[in-house]
Amino acid sequence: MAQVELQGITKSFGATRVLKDVNLSIEDGEFLTLVGPSGCGKTTLIRIIAGLEQQTSGSIRIDGASIDHLRPHERRIAMVFQSYALYPHMTAYGNMALPLTMARLHLYERIPLLRLLSPRRRSVMKQIDAEVQAVANQLKIGPLLQRRPAQLSGGQRQRVALGRAMVRDPAAFLMDEPLSNLDAELRVHMRTELAELHQRIGATFIYVTHDQVEAMSMSDRIAMMDGGQVAQLGTPSELYERPASIRVAQFIGSPAINILPGQVGPDGAVELLGRKLPISTRLPPGSAVSIGIRPEAIRVTGGGDPAAEVSLHAHLRRRELLGPEQILHFHLDRLESATVIVRLAGAQAPVAVDGAAELGFDPGACHVFDAEGNRVEVSRAESRAVPPQAALVQVGRAG
Ligand SMILES: Nc1ncnc2c1ncn2[C@@H]1O[C@H](COP(=O)(O)OP(=O)(O)O)[C@@H](O)[C@H]1O
Ligand SMILES: [Mg+2]
Repeated sequence: MAQVELQGITKSFGATRVLKDVNLSIEDGEFLTLVGPSGCGKTTLIRIIAGLEQQTSGSIRIDGASIDHLRPHERRIAMVFQSYALYPHMTAYGNMALPLTMARLHLYERIPLLRLLSPRRRSVMKQIDAEVQAVANQLKIGPLLQRRPAQLSGGQRQRVALGRAMVRDPAAFLMDEPLSNLDAELRVHMRTELAELHQRIGATFIYVTHDQVEAMSMSDRIAMMDGGQVAQLGTPSELYERPASIRVAQFIGSPAINILPGQVGPDGAVELLGRKLPISTRLPPGSAVSIGIRPEAIRVTGGGDPAAEVSLHAHLRRRELLGPEQILHFHLDRLESATVIVRLAGAQAPVAVDGAAELGFDPGACHVFDAEGNRVEVSRAESRAVPPQAALVQVGRAG
């Protein structure tokens, strides 16, 4: 059990700064995921926590005490690698017992024949056996213990590698893309298994992945990394619903969020493709902004959409049917270059391919970002509610 704290971690390889001031506090028993595009420094950071790499500056604390001077095996931290790093000539049992025999037996007690001279060896081995069996039961690999890695499936090897980490009863587990070598089906299965395992053993997990679905589905909190820094730290729903930047918004969620060009009008209102939205910002008039709308926040109708406060004319270019839902690709009439992706439940096509449609959305669903890509707070403009009488007249006019 451990609380892990990273304070001002930086790392340079030669002149290249790979990590720039990473600060993170991981709670005891938390499942925290470092997610981000390839090359953003995830592996480097996790190797520094494990002690396999030395940080250029900054400090790591476990339960308040610095571990910077400790060597990897002294850190009470277990690392599970992407390639399982199992010894091929040893059985699953041998692989799992190895860290314990290395720690608890003297060198001569591990040497054939010579070891017979040790009176305490038997009782130590009995204790180790009990611990290996207990972990094997937790991972449901008891029947596989006599097999060698080559005789195990990818998922089984993964479990043995996890078991080898677990027998040391570490304070925290570090996992670097542990599922990336598995096929899609097994990956989904192992996600559930890892999340359940985390609940069962209640240890601190620091998990690395470039796969946002993995991050979203397993984590208590996510630290999205970008360019060697933490771009945002929060729960999965915080990152999804209130992304701090365009980079986070585009990385989290699939299909990716739609980003459309906009600007701030003379009265502070946000304008999308020249249309004034009922939301305003404090950015100076004329500022360029980007407006993000999630694919599931958009409604599609054939004709006008009376329920929508805002709607855009578009044509359907492509439709992907995924069973319970469909992904629709639209081109906007006002901006041919912009594709807008819509995600709809059901299999019924709202319009035919090449047909015209209205894309309606609630302005509250818009994420607004400034020219640097940072999230901008918006307020709903004064309600433009019209008295019922006037509304009737307007409807009459429109008809
Ligand atoms: N030993 C090294 N020497 C030089 N550059 C390295 C070394 N290890 C990693 N890097 C560089 O650091 C950056 C971050 O790498 P890494 O931590 O592996 O990213 P990630 O795991 O997020 O894909 C990359 O640009 C990579 O090329
Ligand atoms: Mg990596």
